[in-house]
Amino acid sequence: MPFYTRLGQIPKKRHTQFRRPDGLLYSEELFGTEGFSGPSSTMYHIHPPTQVYGWKTLYSTKAEYLEQDVMRMRHVKSAGMRPKGDPVDGRVVLFGNADCEMALCTPAKPMPYFYKNGQGDECLFIHFGTGTCSTMMGTLKFGPKDYIVIPKGVIYKLEFDRRTVAAAGEPTIEAVPYGKFLIVETANGSHIGPPPRYVSKDHGQFLEHAPYCERDLRLPQLPLAYDEGGAHEVRVKARNRMHSYTYHYHPLDIVGWDGCYYPYIFNIEDFAPITGKLHMPPPIHQTFEAHNFVICSFCPRMLDYHPQAIKVPYNHSNIDSDEVLYYVEGNFGSRKGIEVASLTAHPQGIPHGPHPGTIEASLPHERTGEMAVMCDTFRPLFPTKAALDLDDHKYPASWEGEHFPRLTAGELTIPATSRYVQNTGIPDLPGKHGLNSDSLNDHAGNGQAGSEQAKTGTANTWAPQESGKPPFNGKHAKAKAKPLKPRR
Ligand SMILES: [Fe+2]
Repeated sequence: MPFYTRLGQIPKKRHTQFRRPDGLLYSEELFGTEGFSGPSSTMYHIHPPTQVYGWKTLYSTKAEYLEQDVMRMRHVKSAGMRPKGDPVDGRVVLFGNADCEMALCTPAKPMPYFYKNGQGDECLFIHFGTGTCSTMMGTLKFGPKDYIVIPKGVIYKLEFDRRTVAAAGEPTIEAVPYGKFLIVETANGSHIGPPPRYVSKDHGQFLEHAPYCERDLRLPQLPLAYDEGGAHEVRVKARNRMHSYTYHYHPLDIVGWDGCYYPYIFNIEDFAPITGKLHMPPPIHQTFEAHNFVICSFCPRMLDYHPQAIKVPYNHSNIDSDEVLYYVEGNFGSRKGIEVASLTAHPQGIPHGPHPGTIEASLPHERTGEMAVMCDTFRPLFPTKAALDLDDHKYPASWEGEHFPRLTAGELTIPATSRYVQNTGIPDLPGKHGLNSDSLNDHAGNGQAGSEQAKTGTANTWAPQESGKPPFNGKHAKAKAKPLKPRR
């Protein structure tokens, strides 16, 4: 993080004698980045951190990516993923490349060991569940919609409370016994932090235009130091392999630290969306970034307020990025296709945009209740077998269909403003906030995969069923000939 903080006991001067109550010296450790030229923290251990007793390798963590030569949109429906493993070994990588990995985890059991990611930063987005993230730099209590950013090298244990109640709209206890979270981690050794444009160049303070600031970040708290003997396992992910190290003392034995390198939490509800008179581009949703990828938060917000504004995003080609969206909430369950916990992947080689009917239907709405987390990468993303197993193969066909059915049929007037036209016959959009998922449909397609209009979707080849014929019964051309009704 860009700003300095401290926790626990530290000596007045760095690199000076700092003694335990029994008179022995605490063990100072500089936790530094970028060859000691980047952000660092200085920590004081009860025991020398270099003392380990034995180690072994456990299993490969290298993700195997498939279909790397196939460019297609994907819709991964993760709601049905079964609980698996613990909060570390239960992670299921779905997409990734040489810069980042995206995984989901629905733990089936607690983790009995401590963990250190020795090859990348992690950003965990807690979708469901509460608990405690005990780190070597202090304790972070977490809950739904928290981003937990854990820098490379920090030892931690993620302890979920066992769920006992499933509130309305939440998965059952059987399906999610502890919690469910999304993991985005760096695979290129870079660090996850706020976009540089959000902070001052000289001092790293969050600037006025940033959608969040220091006050929104929850930093590690006490309790901090544990002085316990015994055999404590610390699993270390490094070089695409999980290692098991044994410590003779509790690995969270730091009595104090200070610096600018530490884990923290940011809740997505504290993201203050930037809105505009006309559609604002995706960078306004940006929350974090690392080398070659960004993480964005799509939150409930006011929609564009120009009287003739198009409320859903324009069709677009994000020519230099692949886009993955994870859908958090927003009544997606009332629609076919996109659901809570769905992921959509849109590669940079093809445009995407609003689904059929949503542009006109969006015009009356003033707010959207959508919430999603997006990860955009500057290099192509590849799916794993787990992603392909959950992929809705019909998704690429989901833009098929008449985009302005009532308009072209002559049953809809064209309003000169975005004033709501009553009784247009267009099905209203669900949800108390109005628009819900639809302004995400630049990323979501029409959410109609599996519908009548999406039957032609196939795996990796999609050919028109009847060559030379329009895909929706020629109504398009026929309807164009009809005069439009004058606006009342
Ligand atoms: Fe997009």
